Amino acid sequence: MNYDDFYPFDYESLSYTLDALNPYISKYTLYFHHDKHYKNYVDKLNALLKKRPMLHNVPLEALTEIADEDIRTNAGGVYNHELYFSSLTPDYKEPSEKMQKLIDDSFGSEKEMWDEIIEAGTGLTGSGYVWLALAPDGELEVLVTQNQDVIDLDKYIPLFNIDVWEHSYYLDRQNRRADYLNAVKSVINWEHAEKMLDSQNDRSD
Ligand SMILES: [Fe+2]
Repeated sequence: MNYDDFYPFDYESLSYTLDALNPYISKYTLYFHHDKHYKNYVDKLNALLKKRPMLHNVPLEALTEIADEDIRTNAGGVYNHELYFSSLTPDYKEPSEKMQKLIDDSFGSEKEMWDEIIEAGTGLTGSGYVWLALAPDGELEVLVTQNQDVIDLDKYIPLFNIDVWEHSYYLDRQNRRADYLNAVKSVINWEHAEKMLDSQNDRSD
């Protein structure tokens, strides 16, 4: 079997401009978050992998689960940030009818889903992510992970994640994480969330 190398991992550009998410997420926050924090994870992961050619054909998702803590953490930092930036859009559209039904079946209503996301995100001590994911029983669930951990991708299909490290909101909202999570509601990319759902479902067919 022929394996293509995944290494080196690309530093992906945003699909929107740095000021596009104003006033929900400011240009300054997005600049430091994308151009500094995220880039740092890509650079560190590539530097670590440079010395480990045996891992050059391992995809990013698998690197987020390996035993080596440095590689796992930096791979998680790349995976989590790429999903987060893709989960945001300046061109907000309501969830599709199909997505709305899934939300209603899983939580009762979209409001109840957001209440749970905000409670989970504010309840997380320290740094991490809050996720919306499809569980094996076919219902959506809200999950949290610490630091740069990734949810169990063999079990769950992530629809979106929200970075709740302080660098995601401190410049804009200081310690008000709940305000940030409320603001993110207005820039969530539901089209991308649905693509995540469809692409992963296709893979298991
Ligand atoms: Fe981050």
